[in-house]
Amino acid sequence: MNVADSEIIEMILMKQNFKKVEDINEANVILFNTCSIRDKAEQSLFKQIEQIKNKKNKIIGILGCMAQRLGKALLEHKNIDFVIGPDEYRTLPKVIEEVYNKKVRIVKTEFINNEFYDDFSQNYKNAISAFIPIIRGCNNFCTYCVVPYTRGREKSRDIDSIIKEIKSLKDKNYKEITLLGENVDSYSFFKGNQKYKFNDLLKIVAEIDENMRIRFTSSHPKDINKDILETIQKYKNICKHIHLPVQSGSNKILKLMNRSYSSEEYLEKIELIRTLIPSCGITTDIMCGFCDENEDDHQQTLDLMEKIKYDSSFTFAYSERSGTYSAKNFKDNVDKDTKIRRLNEIINLQHIHSEYQNKKCIGKTFEILVEGESKRNKNEYFGRTTCNKVVIFENLNNKISSGEFVNVKINNYTSATLFGNII
Ligand code: 5AD
Ligand code: SF4
Repeated sequence: MNVADSEIIEMILMKQNFKKVEDINEANVILFNTCSIRDKAEQSLFKQIEQIKNKKNKIIGILGCMAQRLGKALLEHKNIDFVIGPDEYRTLPKVIEEVYNKKVRIVKTEFINNEFYDDFSQNYKNAISAFIPIIRGCNNFCTYCVVPYTRGREKSRDIDSIIKEIKSLKDKNYKEITLLGENVDSYSFFKGNQKYKFNDLLKIVAEIDENMRIRFTSSHPKDINKDILETIQKYKNICKHIHLPVQSGSNKILKLMNRSYSSEEYLEKIELIRTLIPSCGITTDIMCGFCDENEDDHQQTLDLMEKIKYDSSFTFAYSERSGTYSAKNFKDNVDKDTKIRRLNEIINLQHIHSEYQNKKCIGKTFEILVEGESKRNKNEYFGRTTCNKVVIFENLNNKISSGEFVNVKINNYTSATLFGNII
């Protein structure tokens, strides 16, 4: 979401003739698009501000969820000049002008309407892949999560504006789009009497261009359903990858988290995915050390992972966020060392499962969308399979360029990457 928002911010500023510089020392204005999801994300902002040289000659602005959450309090930091929440980015050029000319400090954190910045489309050279926000905010109120407070309630974007943006990206030769939202399955938009749900949107988007890959993230386990899975199966260009955050394998913890599914129901969804789309890549988010999590609960998470063997996962230790239900009502009673130990056990097990899943790819051929040169070696390029696995392959004499589809036969793997040759 923040990557997509940063692109929008860039477009808003470029339209007013601001110029992006590569070297932070040359910048007059420095913007931080921040995340509040865990304390670590927030602390890294202050560290980064400390590292900026010549602060006196620069304006520093804080955007994103920290801006929304902390608002005026951020001005206690002497180097911060302005603070703008996610719903007011349109005011950025004016705010920068005022701060620059009048030497005032400004805070804007009102929720106007959970607005979509849909008159801006990405316009980068050689671009291949774009994010398309379709729904903003969240109504689920998982007890640990700050998002419903920083991003507000769910609001679905006008379907015509989504289609218009995707068609314009198609004309610019983009090859992949990712439909974005905290909960994409909750998409719901009325055009006249006609209601469009996520499944309807997915079909319409898939039919815009059969050569354009469609991805989406994230889904909520309680919402993803057979209709959506059948659509994914039916359209070749909808990527066979589902990110389905589980958080925990313990029903006691899932209940305390207000996730509204049990581990049995979650497993049923995974079975349905694997029955309908056998080759589907499945990834997840896992959180350990939530309030009252004991060794048995933790073991249930490891057991669930063992049953599913995710292709990869994002793993976190619980971080209390003030204002959330769990901060107000539960005790953050798993000590730091235990959280770290459990997190490491989860990471180590995931490593084994990622290797297991990647090993199964040896000898198989995948269609790859080429994304660019590999960082390690100029003769090597990288891209992704439909299941979202990164593949590195040789591209001698630059036969292939970014944005092309190639078939690559896999001959090696690590837990994070596949390796192969173009065939
Ligand atoms: N502490 C730790 N992890 C969190 N996440 C969300 N809130 C918290 C928190 N307070 C994780 C969840 C979510 C992902 C985006 O971030 O796993 O799915
Ligand atoms: Fe946060 Fe839960 Fe909403 Fe995801 S579904 S954004 S974890 S409240």
